[in-house]
Amino acid sequence: METTFTLTDAQTAFFHREGYLAVESLVPPDELEWMTAIYDRLFAERAGRESGDQFDLAGTDDDTVQASLPQILNPAKYAPELKEGRFRVNALRLARHLLGEDANYQGEHAIFKPARYGAATPWHQDEAYWNPNLDYNAISIWIPLQPATLENGCMQFIPRSHTMEVMPHHTIGNDPRVHGLEIDTLNSSSAAACPLSAGGCTVHPSRTLHHTGANRSEMPRRAYILGFGTPPKPRNPHLPPRIFAWNDAKQTPREQRRRDFETQNPVFNS
Ligand code: NI
Repeated sequence: METTFTLTDAQTAFFHREGYLAVESLVPPDELEWMTAIYDRLFAERAGRESGDQFDLAGTDDDTVQASLPQILNPAKYAPELKEGRFRVNALRLARHLLGEDANYQGEHAIFKPARYGAATPWHQDEAYWNPNLDYNAISIWIPLQPATLENGCMQFIPRSHTMEVMPHHTIGNDPRVHGLEIDTLNSSSAAACPLSAGGCTVHPSRTLHHTGANRSEMPRRAYILGFGTPPKPRNPHLPPRIFAWNDAKQTPREQRRRDFETQNPVFNS
Protein backbone atom coordinates (compact mmCIF):
# COMPACT_ATOMS: atom_id res chain seq x y z
CA MET A 1 0.00 0.00 0.00
CA GLU A 2 1.33 3.43 -0.94
CA THR A 3 1.14 6.47 1.31
CA THR A 4 1.74 10.14 0.82
CA PHE A 5 1.92 10.72 4.58
CA THR A 6 4.87 12.94 5.51
CA LEU A 7 6.23 15.36 8.10
CA THR A 8 7.61 18.84 7.61
CA ASP A 9 11.23 19.62 8.49
CA ALA A 10 9.93 21.75 11.39
CA GLN A 11 7.94 18.80 12.79
CA THR A 12 10.95 16.48 12.49
CA ALA A 13 13.24 18.99 14.21
CA PHE A 14 10.68 19.51 16.99
CA PHE A 15 10.47 15.76 17.63
CA HIS A 16 14.23 15.31 17.94
CA ARG A 17 14.65 18.42 20.10
CA GLU A 18 11.63 18.09 22.42
CA GLY A 19 11.19 14.30 22.53
CA TYR A 20 7.56 14.30 21.44
CA LEU A 21 5.34 15.47 18.59
CA ALA A 22 1.63 15.90 17.92
CA VAL A 23 0.46 15.20 14.36
CA GLU A 24 -3.00 15.58 12.80
CA SER A 25 -4.76 13.12 10.46
CA LEU A 26 -2.71 9.92 10.74
CA VAL A 27 -5.86 7.79 10.41
CA PRO A 28 -7.74 8.27 7.12
CA PRO A 29 -11.16 9.73 8.07
CA ASP A 30 -13.04 6.81 6.51
CA GLU A 31 -11.25 4.34 8.83
CA LEU A 32 -12.14 5.97 12.16
CA GLU A 33 -15.65 4.57 12.55
CA TRP A 34 -14.46 1.12 11.41
CA MET A 35 -11.60 1.05 13.94
CA THR A 36 -13.87 2.29 16.72
CA ALA A 37 -16.43 -0.48 16.11
CA ILE A 38 -13.70 -3.16 16.24
CA TYR A 39 -12.15 -1.56 19.33
CA ASP A 40 -15.44 -1.51 21.25
CA ARG A 41 -16.21 -5.10 20.25
CA LEU A 42 -12.82 -6.38 21.48
CA PHE A 43 -13.27 -4.77 24.90
CA ALA A 44 -16.94 -5.85 25.15
CA GLU A 45 -15.97 -9.44 24.32
CA ARG A 46 -12.99 -9.26 26.72
CA ALA A 47 -10.78 -10.47 23.87
CA GLY A 48 -7.48 -11.87 25.10
CA ARG A 49 -8.59 -12.06 28.73
CA GLU A 50 -7.93 -15.81 29.03
CA SER A 51 -4.49 -15.66 27.41
CA GLY A 52 -3.30 -12.72 29.54
CA ASP A 53 -3.48 -10.21 26.66
CA GLN A 54 -6.35 -8.24 28.26
CA PHE A 55 -5.91 -6.94 31.79
CA ASP A 56 -6.31 -3.92 34.06
CA LEU A 57 -3.20 -1.78 33.72
CA ALA A 58 -3.88 0.23 36.89
CA GLY A 59 -5.52 -2.28 39.26
CA THR A 60 -5.15 -5.76 40.70
CA ASP A 61 -6.98 -7.23 37.68
CA ASP A 62 -9.53 -9.04 39.82
CA ASP A 63 -12.35 -10.59 37.76
CA THR A 64 -14.97 -9.28 40.21
CA VAL A 65 -13.97 -5.60 39.85
CA GLN A 66 -14.55 -3.42 36.77
CA ALA A 67 -11.15 -2.58 35.28
CA SER A 68 -10.35 1.12 35.60
CA LEU A 69 -7.72 1.04 32.84
CA PRO A 70 -8.37 -1.97 30.60
CA GLN A 71 -5.66 -2.76 28.08
CA ILE A 72 -5.43 -5.27 25.20
CA LEU A 73 -2.03 -6.35 23.91
CA ASN A 74 -1.90 -7.08 20.19
CA PRO A 75 -5.55 -6.32 19.32
CA ALA A 76 -4.88 -7.35 15.70
CA LYS A 77 -4.42 -10.95 16.90
CA TYR A 78 -8.11 -10.88 17.88
CA ALA A 79 -9.28 -8.76 14.93
CA PRO A 80 -6.92 -9.54 11.99
CA GLU A 81 -8.81 -7.09 9.75
CA LEU A 82 -6.97 -4.33 11.65
CA LYS A 83 -3.82 -5.39 9.76
CA GLU A 84 -5.37 -4.05 6.55
CA GLY A 85 -5.86 -0.48 7.77
CA ARG A 86 -4.12 2.36 5.93
CA PHE A 87 -3.47 4.00 9.34
CA ARG A 88 -0.79 1.35 9.76
CA VAL A 89 0.94 2.23 6.47
CA ASN A 90 0.96 5.90 7.48
CA ALA A 91 2.36 5.02 10.89
CA LEU A 92 5.22 2.98 9.40
CA ARG A 93 6.09 5.86 7.05
CA LEU A 94 6.10 8.24 10.03
CA ALA A 95 8.35 5.86 12.00
CA ARG A 96 10.84 5.46 9.14
CA HIS A 97 10.90 9.21 8.62
CA LEU A 98 11.95 9.69 12.26
CA LEU A 99 14.09 6.59 12.94
CA GLY A 100 15.46 5.57 9.54
CA GLU A 101 14.49 3.08 6.84
CA ASP A 102 15.45 0.06 8.96
CA ALA A 103 12.68 0.86 11.47
CA ASN A 104 9.93 -1.73 11.64
CA TYR A 105 6.71 -2.57 13.45
CA GLN A 106 7.33 -3.81 17.01
CA GLY A 107 3.86 -4.24 18.51
CA GLU A 108 0.58 -2.59 19.35
CA HIS A 109 -1.92 -2.26 22.16
CA ALA A 110 -5.16 -0.54 23.07
CA ILE A 111 -5.77 1.38 26.31
CA PHE A 112 -9.38 2.19 27.13
CA LYS A 113 -10.64 4.71 29.68
CA PRO A 114 -14.33 4.09 30.38
CA ALA A 115 -16.52 7.23 30.64
CA ARG A 116 -16.26 8.93 34.08
CA TYR A 117 -14.37 5.89 35.39
CA GLY A 118 -11.10 5.49 33.45
CA ALA A 119 -8.08 5.95 35.70
CA ALA A 120 -5.02 8.10 35.09
CA THR A 121 -1.96 6.43 33.56
CA PRO A 122 0.85 7.57 35.88
CA TRP A 123 4.02 9.29 34.68
CA HIS A 124 6.44 6.73 33.24
CA GLN A 125 9.03 5.97 30.57
CA ASP A 126 8.04 3.10 28.25
CA GLU A 127 11.57 1.70 28.32
CA ALA A 128 11.10 0.97 32.06
CA TYR A 129 8.88 -1.96 30.98
CA TRP A 130 11.50 -3.39 28.60
CA ASN A 131 14.68 -5.50 28.73
CA PRO A 132 17.39 -3.56 30.60
CA ASN A 133 20.14 -5.38 28.70
CA LEU A 134 19.20 -3.88 25.34
CA ASP A 135 19.59 -0.46 23.75
CA TYR A 136 16.51 0.81 21.95
CA ASN A 137 15.80 3.24 19.15
CA ALA A 138 12.03 3.08 19.31
CA ILE A 139 8.88 5.20 19.27
CA SER A 140 5.27 4.84 20.31
CA ILE A 141 2.55 6.32 18.14
CA TRP A 142 -0.50 7.08 20.31
CA ILE A 143 -3.76 7.46 18.38
CA PRO A 144 -7.06 8.65 19.94
CA LEU A 145 -10.18 7.39 18.15
CA GLN A 146 -12.20 10.39 19.38
CA PRO A 147 -10.97 13.90 20.20
CA ALA A 148 -8.41 13.74 23.04
CA THR A 149 -8.79 16.49 25.64
CA LEU A 150 -7.46 17.31 29.09
CA GLU A 151 -10.86 16.24 30.43
CA ASN A 152 -10.81 12.72 28.92
CA GLY A 153 -7.10 11.94 29.21
CA CYS A 154 -5.02 13.33 26.35
CA MET A 155 -1.29 12.66 26.29
CA GLN A 156 1.07 14.86 28.34
CA PHE A 157 4.86 14.92 28.07
CA ILE A 158 7.88 16.30 29.91
CA PRO A 159 9.68 18.12 27.09
CA ARG A 160 13.30 17.00 26.47
CA SER A 161 13.07 14.10 28.93
CA HIS A 162 13.96 11.68 26.11
CA THR A 163 17.66 12.33 26.71
CA MET A 164 17.54 11.00 30.30
CA GLU A 165 18.42 7.45 31.33
CA VAL A 166 15.56 5.28 32.57
CA MET A 167 14.67 6.60 36.03
CA PRO A 168 13.63 4.40 39.00
CA HIS A 169 10.01 3.20 38.75
CA HIS A 170 7.64 1.15 40.93
CA THR A 171 4.39 -0.70 40.25
CA ILE A 172 1.31 1.51 40.80
CA GLY A 173 0.52 1.61 44.53
CA ASN A 174 3.70 -0.44 45.12
CA ASP A 175 1.49 -3.48 44.54
CA PRO A 176 3.36 -6.30 42.71
CA ARG A 177 0.00 -7.58 41.36
CA VAL A 178 -0.36 -4.41 39.24
CA HIS A 179 1.18 -4.33 35.76
CA GLY A 180 1.37 -0.52 35.41
CA LEU A 181 4.52 1.40 36.36
CA GLU A 182 5.00 4.84 37.84
CA ILE A 183 8.20 6.89 38.13
CA ASP A 184 9.37 7.23 41.75
CA THR A 185 9.81 11.02 41.80
CA LEU A 186 9.01 13.76 39.30
CA ASN A 187 8.51 17.49 39.02
CA SER A 188 5.82 17.73 36.34
CA SER A 189 5.52 21.54 36.29
CA SER A 190 6.91 21.72 32.73
CA ALA A 191 4.42 19.16 31.34
CA ALA A 192 3.07 19.83 27.84
CA ALA A 193 -0.47 18.59 27.13
CA CYS A 194 -1.35 17.50 23.58
CA PRO A 195 -5.08 17.73 22.81
CA LEU A 196 -5.78 16.10 19.44
CA SER A 197 -8.51 15.56 16.90
CA ALA A 198 -9.82 12.02 16.40
CA GLY A 199 -7.33 10.07 14.29
CA GLY A 200 -4.40 12.38 14.96
CA CYS A 201 -1.47 11.04 16.95
CA THR A 202 1.32 11.84 19.32
CA VAL A 203 4.78 10.32 18.85
CA HIS A 204 7.39 9.79 21.57
CA PRO A 205 10.65 7.85 21.95
CA SER A 206 11.03 5.16 24.60
CA ARG A 207 12.51 7.39 27.33
CA THR A 208 10.21 10.42 27.11
CA LEU A 209 8.26 10.85 30.35
CA HIS A 210 4.51 10.82 29.66
CA HIS A 211 1.17 10.45 31.37
CA THR A 212 -2.56 10.70 30.69
CA GLY A 213 -5.15 11.95 33.17
CA ALA A 214 -8.31 10.17 34.28
CA ASN A 215 -11.36 10.26 32.02
CA ARG A 216 -13.70 12.75 33.68
CA SER A 217 -15.90 13.09 30.57
CA GLU A 218 -19.22 11.47 29.70
CA MET A 219 -17.71 9.62 26.72
CA PRO A 220 -15.30 6.68 26.51
CA ARG A 221 -11.66 7.53 25.70
CA ARG A 222 -10.16 5.07 23.24
CA ALA A 223 -6.43 5.08 22.45
CA TYR A 224 -4.67 2.79 19.96
CA ILE A 225 -0.88 2.58 20.26
CA LEU A 226 1.58 1.31 17.64
CA GLY A 227 5.26 0.66 18.41
CA PHE A 228 8.11 0.89 15.89
CA GLY A 229 11.88 0.73 16.18
CA THR A 230 15.17 -0.31 14.66
CA PRO A 231 16.41 -3.71 15.90
CA PRO A 232 17.40 -3.44 19.61
CA LYS A 233 21.12 -3.94 20.27
CA PRO A 234 22.92 -5.51 23.26
CA ARG A 235 24.10 -2.81 25.64
CA ASN A 236 27.77 -1.94 25.79
CA PRO A 237 29.19 -4.54 28.26
CA HIS A 238 31.65 -1.96 29.57
CA LEU A 239 28.79 0.14 30.96
CA PRO A 240 27.39 -0.71 34.39
CA PRO A 241 24.46 -3.13 33.92
CA ARG A 242 20.95 -1.71 34.23
CA ILE A 243 18.66 -3.38 36.75
CA PHE A 244 14.89 -2.79 36.53
CA ALA A 245 14.01 -4.32 39.90
CA TRP A 246 10.40 -3.09 39.57
CA ASN A 247 9.79 -5.65 36.82
CA ASP A 248 11.49 -8.54 38.64
CA ALA A 249 9.18 -7.95 41.65
CA LYS A 250 5.95 -8.24 39.63
CA GLN A 251 3.53 -11.12 40.20
CA THR A 252 0.53 -10.20 38.09
CA PRO A 253 -2.65 -12.22 37.52
CA ARG A 254 -2.11 -11.48 33.81
CA GLU A 255 1.19 -13.38 33.79
CA GLN A 256 -0.44 -16.26 35.65
CA ARG A 257 -3.27 -16.41 33.08
CA ARG A 258 -0.72 -16.39 30.27
CA ARG A 259 1.22 -19.28 31.83
CA ASP A 260 -1.97 -21.27 32.47
CA PHE A 261 -3.16 -20.64 28.91
CA GLU A 262 0.14 -21.78 27.41
CA THR A 263 0.07 -24.93 29.54
CA GLN A 264 -3.48 -25.71 28.41
CA ASN A 265 -2.86 -24.79 24.77
CA PRO A 266 0.60 -26.12 23.96
CA VAL A 267 1.97 -25.42 20.50
CA PHE A 268 3.05 -28.67 18.91
CA ASN A 269 4.54 -27.32 15.72
CA SER A 270 7.77 -25.95 17.15
NI1 NI B 1 3.64 4.67 27.93
